[in-house]
Amino acid sequence: MASNRPLRSQTWFAQPTYESLTHRAAIRAEGFTPDVFQNRPVIGICNSWSELNHCNLHLRTVAEAVKRGVWAAGGFPLEFPTISLGEIYMKPTTMLFRNLMAMDVEECIRAYPLDGVVLLCGCDKTTPAQIMGAASADLPAIVVTGGPQLNGRWEGNPIGAGTDGRKLYDLYRTGRIDDEQLCEIEGGIYRSAGHCNVMGTASTMTSLAEALGLALPGCASIPAPDSRRQAVAEQSGRRIVEAVWEDLRPSRILTRAALENAITVDMAIGGSTNAVVHLIAIAGRLGIPLPLAEFDAISRRTPFLANVKPSGQFLMEDFFYAGGLPALMKEILPLLHGDALTITGKTIAENLATAVCYNRDVIREAARPLHPEGGTVVLNGNLAPNGAVLKQTAASPHLLQHRGQAYVFENYQQMRAEIDSDDLPVEASTVLVMKNAGPKGAPGFPEWGHIPMPRVLLNRGIPDMVRISDARMSGTSFGTVVLHIAPESAIGGPLAIAETGDEIALDVANRRIDLCLPADEIARRLATFEPPPPKYTRGYGKLFLDHVTQADQGCDFDFLRAESAHE
Ligand code: FES
Repeated sequence: MASNRPLRSQTWFAQPTYESLTHRAAIRAEGFTPDVFQNRPVIGICNSWSELNHCNLHLRTVAEAVKRGVWAAGGFPLEFPTISLGEIYMKPTTMLFRNLMAMDVEECIRAYPLDGVVLLCGCDKTTPAQIMGAASADLPAIVVTGGPQLNGRWEGNPIGAGTDGRKLYDLYRTGRIDDEQLCEIEGGIYRSAGHCNVMGTASTMTSLAEALGLALPGCASIPAPDSRRQAVAEQSGRRIVEAVWEDLRPSRILTRAALENAITVDMAIGGSTNAVVHLIAIAGRLGIPLPLAEFDAISRRTPFLANVKPSGQFLMEDFFYAGGLPALMKEILPLLHGDALTITGKTIAENLATAVCYNRDVIREAARPLHPEGGTVVLNGNLAPNGAVLKQTAASPHLLQHRGQAYVFENYQQMRAEIDSDDLPVEASTVLVMKNAGPKGAPGFPEWGHIPMPRVLLNRGIPDMVRISDARMSGTSFGTVVLHIAPESAIGGPLAIAETGDEIALDVANRRIDLCLPADEIARRLATFEPPPPKYTRGYGKLFLDHVTQADQGCDFDFLRAESAHE
């Protein structure tokens, strides 16, 4: 397929100028023949491969499969690296660098002689960062995810990255697992390249890339080592060349309908709470307002169907064998905008026509959901005037209506120092509060919100309690955990004035989180608030502190939202 539409890359390669000569000569220096300039779409393969990121370790192999497809369809593939955000190693948090990666992706796409781009991602932030950058650059783009790891195994049982790791480590903390067993777990929990094998942030965001219409149907769920991962990569390489000729840009796909589809799918899969922040940021790149209230409205009407950890029983490999995301999306098709356009050139409904579910224990029917509502709920109240989130499907039902006395940690460091103390004065009814863990306070909005259960309570067999903070938590985590409180404490949000001994009320049915104090006492305490000194005074950290928006606005930089976009 070719058209007479002039290619953007020809501006570099087909001009009667000295500069154009050097552009061609530079490609010839890589050993290509002049044939590559004969009206072939130049396809950038934007690769987040890194040996510092085991989740994306196989993406160079995936890139080779993409290249096969691009060549076969008459394009010219050129692979380029971007920074890679490895969730396990990066300190203080990958979220500090999501916007940096998005800028890297956006500016590389814009600055180089590309007609279209294939985005290779997997580990948590790499997917939203690439989509944000590609949305702003607005050249035809297709997402090829790396896929989830194989199921973890220990003592004959499946174990999920993050989710079971935390549970097993709590057994170690309380002496019920020894060093040798811990070493065995270490060797069996991540069994291959690929992203975390539960419905954590990576599986959520790769699924939402597909729900948004940016990836080929079925792409997100294929395990990383499965040969079909290479096949879908080759297919995606072919398809991006066609998409260039069709001028099928992200701005035609990433509409309000597509974003609503993504939220609906997020609720049905029991997706990570982090998806809320990332979807708002993606919408911001397109100039589409996406208030938190919209997430809650969609949550209330969407059944939770994916029986995958941390909210369910199974792992991503099982989800794939059950039919994967297309089977789940077909089940909720009446709740989706079926006419939304996708990168296939067809609609969501057309893409799902042949989807089949093979295991109803893993992907439930809409009429027999695991929970009648979606995974994530949005809370408001005097502690969170601009909102907070909670993953109700991974919480303890008996704690969803709760009133208890606060025990307050002023920051993460204090929490780490005290949480295993034998005389920590907490009960099962205590509400643990942690401050200064938000976008500006931590800074970087780290995944500190899953405050570990105090050892004194674990020793008494108490597995969960209400915990609240302005931090995020890993999508692999679980528990009755209120997150993303906005505005955050470091800028004077009401969380800043909570004190040990105050009563806090959580009322999920009515979507409220409140500090049970008279209004005049709240006003008195707020009047005494003084912000902590900034953690960065130079470099990227300062840029982040000066421009990051709050959780309810997606934590993008204010100057990267659509109104500031440039060409
Ligand atoms: Fe990369 Fe979990 S550590 S997805």
